[in-house]
Amino acid sequence: MRQSRTVSNYSSLQIVLHWTIACLVLFQLVFGESMTEAVDAIEEGEATGLPTDYGWGFAHYWVGIAILALVALRISARLMHGAPAHPDHAPSWTKLGAKVSHATFYLLLGATPILGLLAYYVGDPWGDIHSLAKPVFIVLIALHVAAAFLHQFWFRDGTLSRMLSTQ
Ligand code: HEM
Ligand code: HEM
Repeated sequence: MRQSRTVSNYSSLQIVLHWTIACLVLFQLVFGESMTEAVDAIEEGEATGLPTDYGWGFAHYWVGIAILALVALRISARLMHGAPAHPDHAPSWTKLGAKVSHATFYLLLGATPILGLLAYYVGDPWGDIHSLAKPVFIVLIALHVAAAFLHQFWFRDGTLSRMLSTQ
């Protein structure tokens, strides 16, 4: 994502949105298969109502919509407030890695709920395409968490701290 402005910290709104969206995405990844089971049950004639008539399908639908709305707010906050520069002393490959992974995250966070809506209202092949987001998210989150700890405890440049408080 293009960096609109370089500032010394993330705003409290950006920090709250980062952790709220992270929790909601984890919820979707852990419980998403119940939506697949509900869709399969309808296709096989074992269930009659839409997935949103059942608890987990309802939760998956609305948590996904909430992620889409919060990501739109987050991108606006980022464009208005800006973001802190990559730490000076970190190796240059980490700067490229951060740029590419953060841009991929924003792309996935916007595209996955839209693909989910297509899966829900149009059906195949969107369901399979939407489901592909799961492994991509898992790999990206694992790399992202490893990078956060590497910066904080190996390079000791305070990268994790700046996503925990406005300092
Ligand atoms: C960032 C938001 C979302 C994430 C991370 C997410 C994640 C997932 C996951 C992990 C699955 C299970 C895939 C599997 O069985 O391997 C799934 C299935 C599904 N999701 Fe989402 N989802 C999101 C948003 C939405 C939204 C907004 C909708 C809209 C209705 C939706 C509709 C569906 C449907 C219909 C399925 C079943 C697909 C099929 O098997 O045909 N999802 N989702
Ligand atoms: C689904 C889970 C997550 C998603 C989607 C996510 C997404 C993102 C995105 C898009 C950014 C870039 C923010 C920006 O500059 O606009 C970011 C930054 C950050 N995230 Fe996450 N994140 C997740 C989980 C985590 C976890 C679990 C940790 C820590 C263990 C973490 C630590 C950080 C840190 C430290 C930054 C700041 C990086 C920097 O200033 O360069 N994130 N995250």
